[in-house]
Amino acid sequence: MSASSPLFNTFARIPLRFERGEGVWLVTDKGERYLDFAAGVAVNSLGHAHPHLVEALKDQAERLWHVSNLYEVAGQEKLAERLTAETFADKVFFNNSGAEALETAIKTARRYHFAKGHPEKIDIITFEGAFHGRTLATIAAGGQAKYMEGFGPKAPGFVQIPAGDIDLLKETIGETTAALMIEPIQGEGGVRSVDKAFLKALREICDEQGLLLIFDEVQTGVGRTGTLFAYQQTGVTPDIMAIAKGIGGGFPVGACLASDEAASGMVPGVHGTTFGGNPLAMAVGNAVLDVVLEEGFLAHVREMGLLFRQGLAELKDRYPDVIEEIRGEGLMVGVKAKVPAGELAAAMRDEKLLSVPAGDNVVRLLPPLTVSDDEVREGLARLSRAAAKLSPARSA
Ligand SMILES: Cc1ncc(COP(=O)(O)O)c(C=O)c1O
Repeated sequence: MSASSPLFNTFARIPLRFERGEGVWLVTDKGERYLDFAAGVAVNSLGHAHPHLVEALKDQAERLWHVSNLYEVAGQEKLAERLTAETFADKVFFNNSGAEALETAIKTARRYHFAKGHPEKIDIITFEGAFHGRTLATIAAGGQAKYMEGFGPKAPGFVQIPAGDIDLLKETIGETTAALMIEPIQGEGGVRSVDKAFLKALREICDEQGLLLIFDEVQTGVGRTGTLFAYQQTGVTPDIMAIAKGIGGGFPVGACLASDEAASGMVPGVHGTTFGGNPLAMAVGNAVLDVVLEEGFLAHVREMGLLFRQGLAELKDRYPDVIEEIRGEGLMVGVKAKVPAGELAAAMRDEKLLSVPAGDNVVRLLPPLTVSDDEVREGLARLSRAAAKLSPARSA
């Protein structure tokens, strides 16, 4: 893009322009086909142009696009009922993005304590390496200096500590603590899984001290890790959960889920949204669930995840000077690189394989959950060629 572009210069964009997509494939304006193992950063959960989603969107578009949340909105209760039936939650608030769903989660936690007569309880403890979005509250929640620099004072009420240190956590909790907030697997942070014992300890501490436990499942949710939500593999249940990305399959949808108790402060008038839960978003969200909840779908994700990670482990053995470690669950996969992660991602792109760099020198591979075994093997073959090109031993 030229320097004279009318767009804000906030994205270091790769000069590729995709015009259409089919399943796991993206096609550029020049007709080149890329294997999309980025899926819009875990967004296109069912790949591109999935017929059931296209149909649902078209059908809704012909009937009704928008009504205000002053009225009952088509599809909202149905989607909320399905989400609550499948999870710990009793209540859902719909938003348009991940950061917005987290803002709702944070407000829900603070408002819970306020309604219980504790307006002083506003602090949310989060964990180093976290990413919760780019709004003023969520950059403060993530606590990463690079995202806060130049945006004024850090929003108050967020405290970061390293994950895994129970003693430090107990020392940090005080009279003003409202909630603990964590991604069960850090995405942007480098596909870093959180120890299950640590998550269990968080739950126990919250129960003992009357705090709320918030999970950020914006990236891990909706089948990505092989269960509908990642928390379902941990034995730990949150009180509040933010989701987005995969639930819309590419249409902007976010949601905050909460237990009745956790949502008890969210009474009429205290929160709102113009576009959240609009009929188009609800039609697509319901259509995504039609597919993800089909019998065998999540088993397919687990199977493809296993096949992929086994293949990647072989590549790690073959190219130990390029690949250091394979991480992740289901189809949320991280390759920790020995070479700069950006170089590995660029070499993959040269092989027409799309990935997403993350922190901790990791390249994320987040294929659509509908990926087939042949497509997984194709991805591995492309990654192998990319690694071979970068392998110093080979080029020596
Ligand atoms: C774990 C997590 N939380 C929150 C967000 C923010 O979501 P959004 O970009 O839709 O605001 C992201 C986005 O990458 C994410 O991965």
